[in-house]
Amino acid sequence: MDKAAYTARKSIPEIIAAADTGEVGLRRALGPLSITALGIGAIIGAGIFVLTGTAAAQYAGPALVLSFVLGGIACAFVGLCYAELAAMIPVSGSSYTYTYATLGELMAWIIGWDLILEYAMGAATVAVGWSGYVGSLLAGLGLHLPPVLTQAAGSTVRLADGTEAVALLNLPAALIVLALTALLILGTRESTRLNNAMVVVKLAVVLLFIIIGAAYVTPANWHPFLPPNTGEFGHFGWSGVLRGAGVVFFAFIGFDAISTAAQETASPQRDMPIGILGSLAVCTVLYVLVAGVLTGLVPYPALSVADPIAKGVDVIGLGWLSGLIKLGALAGLTTVILVLLYGQARIFLTMARDGLLPPVFARIHPRLRTPWASQMMIGLVVASIAAAVPIGILGEMVSIGTLFAFVLVCGAVLYLRRREPQMARPFRAPGVPVVPALGIGFSLLLMAGLPLDTWLRLVIWMAIGLVIYALYGRHHSALRQPPR
Ligand code: ALA
Repeated sequence: MDKAAYTARKSIPEIIAAADTGEVGLRRALGPLSITALGIGAIIGAGIFVLTGTAAAQYAGPALVLSFVLGGIACAFVGLCYAELAAMIPVSGSSYTYTYATLGELMAWIIGWDLILEYAMGAATVAVGWSGYVGSLLAGLGLHLPPVLTQAAGSTVRLADGTEAVALLNLPAALIVLALTALLILGTRESTRLNNAMVVVKLAVVLLFIIIGAAYVTPANWHPFLPPNTGEFGHFGWSGVLRGAGVVFFAFIGFDAISTAAQETASPQRDMPIGILGSLAVCTVLYVLVAGVLTGLVPYPALSVADPIAKGVDVIGLGWLSGLIKLGALAGLTTVILVLLYGQARIFLTMARDGLLPPVFARIHPRLRTPWASQMMIGLVVASIAAAVPIGILGEMVSIGTLFAFVLVCGAVLYLRRREPQMARPFRAPGVPVVPALGIGFSLLLMAGLPLDTWLRLVIWMAIGLVIYALYGRHHSALRQPPR
C-alpha cells in the first residue's frame, strides 16, 4: 500500500484559504467576555445536571468534588493546546482540521470518526438527560409519563402498580433531538441570541442552587468524605475518585467548541486563552460547589436518579425553586444538544469536502443554506440512539472518545512545534513540551479510570472507522484525485 498517501496533507495556508471561501466575512466582533459566555453555554449541561448523581452514588461519594478538580486540571492543559491550534489555524472543523494540517489524512479520519462520539453521541446523552428532567417537571405538575416510554429500550422499569415491564423506548429523548434537528435544518439565525439568553438562565439556576442549597446542607452527609473502596476498582476510594473524574469529565466537554470561534475574535492571541481557560475556571468552580452542596443535601447513595439536582432541591422543600431549577436545567440541556448537533454537521461537511465522506454530507440547501440532508441523517441516528441506550453507557463512550481526541490534539501541538517551528503562532501555549505532555498524561489517566467495557467499545468503534476508511475514504479522498 502507498504509505505516503496516508500522510498526505493539505498545508496550513491551503486550509485557511479554503475556509475563506465559506467563512470569511465573519466579523471579528467577539471579545473575551462573549467568548467565555459561548464556552459556558456549550459546557454546562448533562454532566452537572445528570451524571453528577450516578458518579457520586456509584463511584466517588462526596469526594466527587475531587473528581471535578481532577477533570478541571486535565482540561486546563488540553485547553492551552487547543488555544494554540485555534489561534494558528483559525477555521472551523475543530480538531479534525488541526489534525488534517499536522498529521495527515489517515489521522484526520481517525479523529473525525472519533469526534462522532463527542458530538453525535454527546447529543444523544444530553437528550436522555433532558428526558429525565422533562419527566420530573411533568410529574411535579401531576402528569406522569408511562415509564415504558421514558427509558432506554429493553430496560426493566417498575410500573405504578409495583409490577415490572420492559421499556419500549425513550420517547422524549428522541423527540427533542428530532425537534432541534428540524430547527437546525430551517436555519439558526437567532441561535446566538438564544444561546446568550440560555447561558444567563443556566448560570442563574446553578448559582441559585448553590446559594440556597448551602443553607440547607446536613454536614453529616459528607461523612465519610472518601467512602472506602468496595474491593472493586473504581467503586469508591481513590480509584472511585478517578472513575468519577472520567465520568464527570463529560461535564467539561464543550470548551473545545470555543476554538471554532477563533476567526470571529477581535484578538485571538489574547481572547482565545482567556475564553477557554476563563470558561473552564468558572465551570470548575461552579461544579465543585454544586457537587459539595448536592452531596451535603442528599446522602450520596440516594443520588442515582435521572434528575439529581431536582432531588437536591426537593430536600430544600421550596416548591417554586424546584420548578424553576427543572425549567432552567431543561433550557440549558436544550442548547447543549443544539450546539452538538450543529457541530456534528459542520465536521461532516468538512470531511465530505475532503472526500472522506460521501458528497451528500456537504450538500447545502439552496434556500435554507443549511446542510439539510446531513443534519437530517444525523438527527435520525442520534434520535434512535437516544431512544435505545441508557445514559451511563452513552456518557462514558463520549468521555473516552473525547479524551482520545484530546491526546491527539496535544500530540499535534508537540509535533507542529518541531515540524513548523517558524509558523506564526498568535498564541503560544506556555511550557511546551511540558504542558502538552501533561495534557496527554492527564487525559490518559482519566481514560484509565473508565471501565474495560468502555475501552472495548472505543476499540470496536475505531476499528469500524478504519474499515470504512479502507472501503471509502481511501479511494475518494480529495487529495488523491488527479488534478482536473
Ligand atoms: N459538557 C456538556 C454537558 O455537560 C456536554 O452536557
